[in-house]
Amino acid sequence: MFIKNIKIQNFRNYKKQNIDLGEQINIFYGDNAQGKTNILESIFVTSIGKSFRAKKDKELIKLKEEKATIEVEYKKIDREGKIKVEIAEEKNIYLNDIKQKKLSDFLGTINIVMFGPDDIEILKGGPEQRRRFLNVMISQLRPKYVYILNMYIKALKQRNNYLRQIKFENKPKEMLEIWDEKLTEYAEYIYNYRKEFIEKIIEKIEPIHEKITEKKEKIKIDYISDFKNKEDFKNELRQSWDIDIQKGHTTKGIQRDDFSIKLNEKKVNVYGSQGQNRTVVLSLKLSELQVIKDEIGEEPILLLDDFMSELDEKRRVNFLKNINYSQVLITSTHEFTIEQKMCKTFHVENGNVEKQN
Ligand SMILES: Nc1ncnc2c1ncn2[C@@H]1O[C@H](COP(=O)(O)OP(=O)(O)OP(=O)(O)O)[C@@H](O)[C@H]1O
Ligand SMILES: [Mg+2]
Repeated sequence: MFIKNIKIQNFRNYKKQNIDLGEQINIFYGDNAQGKTNILESIFVTSIGKSFRAKKDKELIKLKEEKATIEVEYKKIDREGKIKVEIAEEKNIYLNDIKQKKLSDFLGTINIVMFGPDDIEILKGGPEQRRRFLNVMISQLRPKYVYILNMYIKALKQRNNYLRQIKFENKPKEMLEIWDEKLTEYAEYIYNYRKEFIEKIIEKIEPIHEKITEKKEKIKIDYISDFKNKEDFKNELRQSWDIDIQKGHTTKGIQRDDFSIKLNEKKVNVYGSQGQNRTVVLSLKLSELQVIKDEIGEEPILLLDDFMSELDEKRRVNFLKNINYSQVLITSTHEFTIEQKMCKTFHVENGNVEKQN
């Protein structure tokens, strides 16, 4: 698939920008802090519904402005259309000019895989980084996942509030049953989706990693969750009532989900070298790409943020040769081209994008 055109208004450091993208490689080069990553971020938002780096949507609105808009025209094998995201006090999303009732309804339209400088956090960071990795992949393939995950988070908040009411206002404990029931119902869905996609990743990553390391390393991924089955999960919640009341929050649940990655039976984030960690991240992302491709039946868009700058010309060409892609957007502080490919180059300066060739 590919994006034909992108229009952004009052988004980050952009006032108004219109970019006609090339169907293959698009290079955005310029100095630091000029707005290169912001372009990738705007596309990310049209795919996942939120940013990969902003804590609040509000941060995406240009300072002193009230509403940010991102509009993309895309083309897939079987259809084309446009998506518009408006971020103001509220967020509204339009698919072919029709306002979406549920924000999750438009998910799955724009499919992307992003390679960025922070990817190493999937290994080095806490469990929330690994859950985010799963969420970004699953949400663009199973919109219902996001819907249920939001229901779970809402029920979790309500349960936590109630825990504090038991502690400070002597409310009856037994009412917790209601929240346990709800959490169990949603947790089962989320567990099954995550299990399904971790299995898909495992299937892809084993051969990919073997190939990269010339069979020296065997990679193993395990899903770690408090959920096993409905009955056990409900019991676990029930058994933690007292400790939950004491702590004022829910100590068991899929909000703690994680997965571990081992190389030759040793945890890579603990025992792996820097190079091993980098290679594993690359294998993970390439597996994500394969999983998405299998699911949608075409190549997703690749967003490479500052990814190519660490590689020399030979590795750059090799990397791009090794992935059959449709469209790629690359940011870099240096201008470069890739021979044999259709390249479109843009210079980015102070919230302005200008086509070069
Ligand atoms: N809400 C906002 N309003 C106005 N400007 C913003 C907003 N958010 C971020 N910026 C500005 O956007 C610029 C950063 O843009 P971006 O992250 O795209 O830089 P970059 O070109 O990728 O730089 P680098 O090469 O360092 O990664 C900064 O100058 C920052 O101050
Ligand atoms: Mg950047």
